[in-house]
Amino acid sequence: MTGHVWITGAGSGIGEALALAMAEQGWRVMATGRRFEPLAALARRHDAISPWPLDVTDCDAVSSVVSRMPAPDMAILCAGTHAPTPAGSFDAADVRTLVETNLMGTVHCVAALLPGMLERGRGRLVLVASVAGYRGLPTAAGYCAGKAGVIALAESLRLDLAGSGIDIRLVNPGFVDTPLTRKNPFPMPDIISAETAAAAILDGLGHPGFEIAFPRRFAFAMRLLRLMPDRLYFPLIRRITG
Ligand SMILES: NC(=O)c1ccc[n+]([C@@H]2O[C@H](COP(=O)([O-])OP(=O)(O)OC[C@H]3O[C@@H](n4cnc5c(N)ncnc54)[C@H](OP(=O)(O)O)[C@@H]3O)[C@@H](O)[C@H]2O)c1
Repeated sequence: MTGHVWITGAGSGIGEALALAMAEQGWRVMATGRRFEPLAALARRHDAISPWPLDVTDCDAVSSVVSRMPAPDMAILCAGTHAPTPAGSFDAADVRTLVETNLMGTVHCVAALLPGMLERGRGRLVLVASVAGYRGLPTAAGYCAGKAGVIALAESLRLDLAGSGIDIRLVNPGFVDTPLTRKNPFPMPDIISAETAAAAILDGLGHPGFEIAFPRRFAFAMRLLRLMPDRLYFPLIRRITG
């Protein structure tokens, strides 16, 4: 399958690696991020990539850009951000930034894309959340809350859109080496490159199913933690993370 794909968060990390890999596969890639220069640099690397600068937290701007771009056959909603939000210095503004970007940014894109996809009776929406959305993790209340929201959003849409011709997919990465994680002061188990993450996503999209979680071993461990009773989960996480 090829066609037009819209990738948000394409200026760096996983989105950038996806844009390049998909352009190589023959997709026409519309690349979005807030900063123009990384998108322009990406477009210079492959002539199938075009820059569409946009802040996904701006709902009207998202609608306007979607109305001007070629109708995407697929959208990979990857724009996201991370910053610690420890309870000791809990600040609503910090949490709002995370939720506005990671959850509402995704919501704005879905809202702008769905009417056209419903009218055409086809399309694929790929929502990038995180294994950090499975359960609450220390110092990450804002990030975990936003990503848990994206997981629930994808599940509900999948149910509502069954039989509509629109395929909803959920991507839950573990640790990926990108500008987002390079700020982390702690060791990151099973960390993979952005190129490996992009390959895992494209492999998953080539198969039927809903969730694409990777790397396999780390994602499996996180799934076990999701199933663990609270009385075991909280002491275990406290012990692992100190
Ligand atoms: N790296 C990991 O370990 C990991 C793990 C699980 C999930 N994820 C998720 O994977 C996605 C990609 O992350 P990444 O690791 O590749 O990080 P990244 O390299 O920091 O990429 C995130 C991109 O999102 C764009 N962005 C941020 N806020 C935006 C906004 N308001 N509007 C439009 N674009 C925006 C940024 O570009 P501008 O600054 O130019 O806007 C940036 O290029 C995120 O949703 C992240 O939460 C990452």
